[in-house]
Amino acid sequence: MLRTHTCGELRIQDLGKKVTITGWVQKLRNKGGLLWIDVRDRYGVIQLLAEEGKTPIPIIDICKSVGREYVISAKGIVIERVSKNPNMPTGDIEIMLEEITILNASKTPPFLIEDDTDGGDELRMKFRYLDLRRAEVRKNLELRHQLNQQTRQYLDNLGFIDIETPVLIKSTPEGARDFVVPSRMNKGEFYALPQSPQTFKQILMVAGFDRYYQIVKCFRDEDLRADRQPEFTQIDCEMSFITQEDILETFEGLIKHLFKTVKNVELPILPTMTYADAMQWYGSDKPDTRFEMKFVELNSIIKGKGFQVFDEAELVIGIVAKGCAQYTRKQIDELTEFVKRPQIGAKGLVYIRHEAENIFKSSVDKFYNQDELANIAKTMSSNVGDLMFIMSGEAKKVRKQLCELRLEMGNRLGLRKKDEFSALWVVDFPLLDWDDETQRWHAMHHPFTSPKNEDIVLLENGDLGNVRANAYDMVINGTEVGGGSIRIFQREMQEKMLSILGFSPEQAKAQFGFLMDAFEYGTPPHGGIAFGFDRLCAIMGGADSIRDFIAFPKNNAGRDMMINSPSTIADEQLKELGINVL
Ligand code: AMO
Repeated sequence: MLRTHTCGELRIQDLGKKVTITGWVQKLRNKGGLLWIDVRDRYGVIQLLAEEGKTPIPIIDICKSVGREYVISAKGIVIERVSKNPNMPTGDIEIMLEEITILNASKTPPFLIEDDTDGGDELRMKFRYLDLRRAEVRKNLELRHQLNQQTRQYLDNLGFIDIETPVLIKSTPEGARDFVVPSRMNKGEFYALPQSPQTFKQILMVAGFDRYYQIVKCFRDEDLRADRQPEFTQIDCEMSFITQEDILETFEGLIKHLFKTVKNVELPILPTMTYADAMQWYGSDKPDTRFEMKFVELNSIIKGKGFQVFDEAELVIGIVAKGCAQYTRKQIDELTEFVKRPQIGAKGLVYIRHEAENIFKSSVDKFYNQDELANIAKTMSSNVGDLMFIMSGEAKKVRKQLCELRLEMGNRLGLRKKDEFSALWVVDFPLLDWDDETQRWHAMHHPFTSPKNEDIVLLENGDLGNVRANAYDMVINGTEVGGGSIRIFQREMQEKMLSILGFSPEQAKAQFGFLMDAFEYGTPPHGGIAFGFDRLCAIMGGADSIRDFIAFPKNNAGRDMMINSPSTIADEQLKELGINVL
């Protein structure tokens, strides 16, 4: 090695040692004949010292010539600092320089390589190698590495086997668009990149592998958000001869193991909430349960008092913001504007201030007298000093809108702390979801999910909207971190499912014939789950965006700013692939 120590490891106990360190110049200071250089590497930052009059002149000259991000090697003696820095692990000591070599120069970086950088998103992505030198981003990747290792250890201990599945496959409909790859050898034909290894892991169960896992790249051509990337990583798992309870127990174990070993957080037993309850209480199938503020349905007590908006609404629901009765008109107007934004689309927001015992002030005082408001307050379990918010409209829409308001209030009241973790299972999802746009049923999870045994009769009677699936999601702090299901494993049921989803027998055969054929050769009952690995990293790292937990992410337009991709390809290449040149 070109070094004896890293920049992060020397301490007061090392006084007097002769050491060589290597790294990048973070900062230079020159004060009255004293020169300090902060040198950084992956492990930390250490201070070098040179003193005019004491340090040989050639060394002083080199010190004066280095710039930020120069790569240097420095030899010297560890000494005690005169003014110590308690905020740095190496802050008690510095290295008195005896030799310094510039290993490579650097241009001035376009942004500060510090925790508080002045670089905007796009610039940091273009120069990602510089961004990755920042401790914050580096720590995120270290966390990711630990989670990866601990996942492997936990699953390996339980006999799971890591098997790679192909990346050039055929389209698997899981709700998003496929990325496709043209085949040169089969002109006019395309591979698709996997949205997940779903069908392959099921085939592995047919093959008898019993317990499979893979930490695997998946690709989905969908609109991007803070928690979505076009290529992302799943912890993908499948098991045979199990019940839903076995899966929940095994993977609750995985999450607890990760929190314990990586964050030293002891998660309590995960509660289980049905999809129906989650929608009724939180208006979302991924409720943020770090705080309560549950929805209260008010139809039975609020209608029929002459307020047309409520009278005509399918659903009237409200939440209580504890201790917010003193909210000003301006604050309430702001929240009204918030729910009226096109992304949320509410028509308005009704409030009731619980000012004192049986004294209320509301935006609907014209329609509700104090007794009626008291009755609403009682139903909503509001106390003196609380503020009630009420919204109304079409049930599905108004639940979504109130969910946004609830989360916003959670933010405003500081109830969504990044270092608090609330995990739960959401179960009993509907099997199917009616899509108005395409006028057909879609699989809520994917077409391989089995219906609940007791609901098969509904499936047979055509009551499709009420069929529940053996499907489950794990939700942490309002994010869906994982989802899975017990699968269909018989040909007839799979054929039926595909036909409900609008596949003709020919289409079903062309797309999934291989899976249904396999089902005829002794398929064990099986099920599994996949966790969004990037999301898990971001949650454990206390961040909203998964980007900073991915070494080389894409921006919101799906571009890699560093390598400038996607890009056009040469006409020659297009011709070779049999793609018409535009
Ligand atoms: P699902 O589609 O729910 O299930 O995906 C599993 C988990 O992957 C994460 N995820 C994403 N993360 C980042 N960017 C994206 N674009 C993205 N899309 C999904 C989510 C999600 O919970 N084959 C099934 C699993 C199974 O049934 O076993 C599947 O892929 O955290």
